[in-house]
Amino acid sequence: MTNTNKPNGSAMLERAHQNMPMGVADSYRYWGEDNTVFLSSMKGCTITDCDEQTFTDFRLAYGPIILGYRDERIDNAVVDAITNIGSISGFSTGLDSDVVELIKSLCPNIEKMRFANSGTEAVIGAVRTARGFTGRNKIVVVEGGFHGLHDEVMWKSDVDNWDVANEKDPAIIPFGAGIPDSTKDHQVSVPLNNFDALDAVFKAFGDDIAAILIEPIMGNCGSIASTQEYMQKLRDICDANGSLLILDEVKTGFRVAKGGAQELYGIHADLTTYAKAMGNGYPVAGFGGRADVMDTISFAKNGVTHGGTYTANMVALSAAKATLTVLKETDALANVDKVGRDIQELLSRVFTKHGVEHRFAGPDSMFGVHFGSEVPQNYRDWKQTNSDLYTEFAMNLIANGVMLEPDSREPWFICEAHKDMDLAWLEQVADKSMADAITAHNA
Ligand SMILES: Cc1ncc(COP(=O)(O)O)c(C=O)c1O
Repeated sequence: MTNTNKPNGSAMLERAHQNMPMGVADSYRYWGEDNTVFLSSMKGCTITDCDEQTFTDFRLAYGPIILGYRDERIDNAVVDAITNIGSISGFSTGLDSDVVELIKSLCPNIEKMRFANSGTEAVIGAVRTARGFTGRNKIVVVEGGFHGLHDEVMWKSDVDNWDVANEKDPAIIPFGAGIPDSTKDHQVSVPLNNFDALDAVFKAFGDDIAAILIEPIMGNCGSIASTQEYMQKLRDICDANGSLLILDEVKTGFRVAKGGAQELYGIHADLTTYAKAMGNGYPVAGFGGRADVMDTISFAKNGVTHGGTYTANMVALSAAKATLTVLKETDALANVDKVGRDIQELLSRVFTKHGVEHRFAGPDSMFGVHFGSEVPQNYRDWKQTNSDLYTEFAMNLIANGVMLEPDSREPWFICEAHKDMDLAWLEQVADKSMADAITAHNA
């Protein structure tokens, strides 16, 4: 695939193997000895590897890029801030409230907020705050959801090795070694959009459930989305049981709508986590929601502790302020949606031409592509889709200059810069990639 005739890439990986486990800084960047990608630059919606192959990128660093790489509106604001204010101080600046007020103007679910440096940290803060507020421990999560790399949420339903014909639920397994069994004790998982499973969990543990923690649209599971009715059910069951609803909008926030998924559903969480699109790629994150819940964060005897050396640093917050201002004041997200729709239409033409049954899941700005006759309603349904054909198709796209994750559990991410891309070219590449995938698949 990508490393055929990639002398610089091969040399980079060989060097990196001397310096980092697996030769990468994040294990998910390792795509094998032949396919691990090393970049030299990125701009707009394109990335260029160290062997000078350019790709139109639909991976977008797993979602943070919402305007485009190296967007000058954002980069200039960051340079201005670090030149004229500083990068970090260990004290507060007016930027803190500037950003929260911008978010409050876009997201009516937010009354008060705190900042973090990654989605992982934002989720840790939200869960701890929910536990502090309710005085309870258990968290309900959804199969196929992802909430970062902290031990407690690093348990997953092993749908990959699940036998569909077997009536039993998939096994719950850790992401790997080093995760104590005890971290599973306070977690229960349910399949998305299944009312009975939710009722059963609340019947069993209701008065110890601090919160439901859910991605409303599973950006880590093919953009499979909560139905409107299920989202209402989540809200109602939390209210009835004194539990909090935490919506993890790390991927959907400031991407699927200015007010995130909650604007689409018209249903508000008690606490929400944000990251990714909030800073167009700069490392900024946050969590917030109801003032009475957030005010649990205090030095009072029963108060929740939150903070960190790099919290609300000026690089992160100046990027967030500039990005949120652009998203608020321009048609950027409408542009993203339009090109996302156009791309789904052209892909649909290609799949239909080749007789491949397909369904799209999720919103236009981060849509999932599933080869099958139904839109999956949860992770178990995803198992019924032809994900092997998808991977074959995706690998061919990559070889021909279209970058995406070769796993249908990762959606296609769109940024504003895609609006200027050559859609006719993409259709040709998709056509050839699908023809070759079918030949290989049938061989
Ligand atoms: C929904 C969701 N929550 C949390 C995280 C963790 O974010 P980070 O990788 O910034 O720690 C991710 C990352 O992809 C995510 O998609």
